[in-house]
Amino acid sequence: MLQDNYTRLYDYCVEHSTPMDALLFELDRETHLKTLAPRMSSGPIQGRILSVISNLVNPKHILEIGTFTGYSTLNLVRGLQSDGTLLTIEVNPELQYISKKYFEKSGFGNRIIQKIGDAKQIIPTLDYSFDLIFLDAGKKDYPTYYELILPKLRKGGIILADNILWSGKILDEKMDKTSVILDQFNKQVVDDPRVENVILPLRDGINVIRKL
Ligand SMILES: C[S@@+](CC[C@H](N)C(=O)[O-])C[C@H]1O[C@@H](n2cnc3c(N)ncnc32)[C@H](O)[C@@H]1O
Repeated sequence: MLQDNYTRLYDYCVEHSTPMDALLFELDRETHLKTLAPRMSSGPIQGRILSVISNLVNPKHILEIGTFTGYSTLNLVRGLQSDGTLLTIEVNPELQYISKKYFEKSGFGNRIIQKIGDAKQIIPTLDYSFDLIFLDAGKKDYPTYYELILPKLRKGGIILADNILWSGKILDEKMDKTSVILDQFNKQVVDDPRVENVILPLRDGINVIRKL
């Protein structure tokens, strides 16, 4: 019953939020047709949240960790300053034929830089002061990513860490391995005097972290 209500409320939110445009619709459809785990894509509500937050922050430099097919990228990029750049990292080269096509179609192609490889190796080589970072790659590495990206975030900058409630499994008495790590990550953040944060219980949970 609770799940049923949740689904109805989610559908209500989708129906009463600005809809995806034609390009995002096409990307969402291709993602569902051609990838094995389309649920990894942010989807309409989270995509719109990313676009609204990005517009509020109006970043010059955005970092995204975990491109997948680029749905979140194309929402984040909408808040970018006109001379800004969005750098997105993806370990799986098989997905690039989809993401690259949509980046080019979007008109933002020249401002999106995609790097293929392990983000843990790539982040230390980046020489940017980021205003907004979307963390959405392998959950088991969140504690590592956090320490790698915080020095690259400007003061007042925002990290959005996705999936931190892990479909509610974070509350299980006998947590799975990923939940244990995500729980450690959430504790690591709330105990960190370098930041303030709030967890938004939206979709799979987003930890919104602001560097002090
Ligand atoms: C949840 S999906 C990202 C979804 C995307 N941000 C969106 O909302 O549309 C996670 C992605 O992270 C990628 N990934 C996993 N480990 C990674 C790593 N070490 N470095 C870079 N990307 C990684 C996966 O291949 C996958 O495409």
